Amino acid sequence: MRVVSIVGARPQFVKLAPIARVFEDLGVDHKIIHTGQHYDMNMSNAFFQDLSIPDPDVHLGVGSGTHGVQTGGMLAQMDSVLMSFQPDWVLVYGDTNSTIAGALSAVKLHLPLAHLEAGLRSYNRSMPEEHNRVLTDHAADVCLAPSATAAQNLAKEGLSERTVLVGDVMVDVCYLTRDAVQNSDAPVPGVEPDERFLIATIHRAENTDDAMRLETVLKALRDLPLPVVLPAHPRLVAKAAEFGIPLNGGALRLVEPLSYPEVVKAVVAAVGVITDSGGLQKEAFLLGTPCTTLRTETEWVETLADGWNVLDPDLTRLSQTATRPTGVEQRNSPYGQGNAAHAVANALIEHH
Ligand code: UD1
Repeated sequence: MRVVSIVGARPQFVKLAPIARVFEDLGVDHKIIHTGQHYDMNMSNAFFQDLSIPDPDVHLGVGSGTHGVQTGGMLAQMDSVLMSFQPDWVLVYGDTNSTIAGALSAVKLHLPLAHLEAGLRSYNRSMPEEHNRVLTDHAADVCLAPSATAAQNLAKEGLSERTVLVGDVMVDVCYLTRDAVQNSDAPVPGVEPDERFLIATIHRAENTDDAMRLETVLKALRDLPLPVVLPAHPRLVAKAAEFGIPLNGGALRLVEPLSYPEVVKAVVAAVGVITDSGGLQKEAFLLGTPCTTLRTETEWVETLADGWNVLDPDLTRLSQTATRPTGVEQRNSPYGQGNAAHAVANALIEHH
């Protein structure tokens, strides 16, 4: 069986890692197409190195642009690459422009399409990611759902026959990395050993692309009572520079984007996480660190149980929620036990 994975943005490299490992163990012929959506060393290559992902077979090198330019640039090159591989499955990941480009190209070439992390919904139609998700799910031949909620969402849209509940591959990679970094004494960038700190990431268009909103978010972070490590996503850096808003001052400690092992280590050590990232909300939940999410809704609704994750879109509660103590010790396992990549491989073999 030959599978082509299409990835391009940072969270997709993280999800690809456990898949690539399992495919290699099972002798699946696996090709990787990197669209080039993310291209900085610390947004792309570092993840391939740190997570031992084989180098991409093809790099499309599209880079940044408006949604249409970026997605179209991928599509223009994708057909010939997919045709040359003639895969049994095209596997797309998550909800980025690389996901929708891969999905469109595959279905128009009549190549079987599987969507990993299918069924997530924010029901917020102003998010570009929401359109990418919905359209990709409806194009896919197999929807690989990470949670029972995601499977239910797909059923509501008439997609239950194409749905396989596999669990979440981010559990696989998160727990493997947690175990690997447990005894490392590498410091968390931006903080002294044993210093109490918060970690924050901001990159969603809804928080970065409006000057007043971005200033409000950064002011709230500056005013927090503990140091706030802020690994700066390129979108945040670009927008802050455009609006003339400083990314330091007060509690803020600006650092370069972290590697995946550094993120896991930082989340384990932090008093709390503040974010608009989907992945980080879940990593906080998996690693047992309280999270405050600067959005009106979350796709990962299970993280809200027992107050592990709190939504604070208007930042009115941040000063209280950011440093709140850990809730109850026990958490459910709504995303599976860390063997989702195997379930993905089995689903593709069965439906082949
Ligand atoms: C994209 C995804 C989002 C995902 C996120 C993870 C879409 C619509 N959005 O958002 O779902 O959560 O990736 O990070 O696909 N840039 C660099 N270097 C890089 C990458 C980007 O400088 O390596 C800059 C560029 O100026 C670019 C901006 O960051 O214009 C935004 O990048 P883009 O890929 O358009 O969207 P993200 O905000 O990263």
